[in-house]
Amino acid sequence: MSGVEAHYAASDIEARILAAVRAAGLNPEQRLSPDELGALDHFHTGGLRASRELMELAQIRAEDRVLDIGAGLAGPARLLASAIGCRVDCVELSSDFCAGAVLLNRLTGLDDRIGVHKGSALDLPFPDASFDVVWMQNVGMNIADKRKLYGEIRRVLGPGGRYAFQEMAAGQTATSYFPLPWATDPADSFLVSAEEIRSVLGESGFVAERFEDTSEAHLSRTAADAAPSPLTLGVYVDNLPQKAGNARRSLQEGQIRLVRGVFRVK
Ligand SMILES: C[S@@+](CC[C@H](N)C(=O)[O-])C[C@H]1O[C@@H](n2cnc3c(N)ncnc32)[C@H](O)[C@@H]1O
Repeated sequence: MSGVEAHYAASDIEARILAAVRAAGLNPEQRLSPDELGALDHFHTGGLRASRELMELAQIRAEDRVLDIGAGLAGPARLLASAIGCRVDCVELSSDFCAGAVLLNRLTGLDDRIGVHKGSALDLPFPDASFDVVWMQNVGMNIADKRKLYGEIRRVLGPGGRYAFQEMAAGQTATSYFPLPWATDPADSFLVSAEEIRSVLGESGFVAERFEDTSEAHLSRTAADAAPSPLTLGVYVDNLPQKAGNARRSLQEGQIRLVRGVFRVK
């Protein structure tokens, strides 16, 4: 198991998810809606709200073939499949998250529209030009080789394909507060600046349709969004308050930046 996989692994994830669903007053024997799981399964900065915003920006159509890389529990995939009606394939490094994603796809009745594949972003298990849209949220921070990552994304996209993403980028000074949600220590964190993200994407065959820094917008909204519930990332993220606090402090002090974008194949 790689360092990243170990960092994200959460044993008994299916049992934990089912316990949290029941504690929230939901009945897993009845079909759940993706929205009611939103606080549990959107494992990235800004949660479900950020996924909805990126979905608007990406302008995905029902006929698009979508790949979600580093899909986690596949909350964003279920949002896209249910709101738009598109087919989504998920690639995820962690077997535990794959198992959790399969469970939640079944509980929401979306398993026929969402495929879950254990695999790596750096060696995507799909032929060239298999997708119209690649989607990725809060994953690149764990991947050192950005050229290989964006090369793989470019490879699996067909002509006119789009890459929609959000990431943490490096800020003006080095990250100093650990653990962070994506890295227990600096050895697992591979942040590059927003300029470098744009530049490497350009060299990989993409042009920006939209690329923006949403750090300030995120900081101004986060506190008001929080509502206590058994459905939280804490079901599978150890030490969540400390990690989330460190991420917020890093963002406030400009050590990290939150960026998102939609790039198109040139
Ligand atoms: C912060 S979580 C985000 C999960 C999901 N994208 C979401 O927003 O809900 C990062 C995910 O990326 C996965 N991951 C990290 N490196 C990966 C790689 N090289 N290939 C595939 N998945 C990876 C992790 O296992 C983890 O599930």
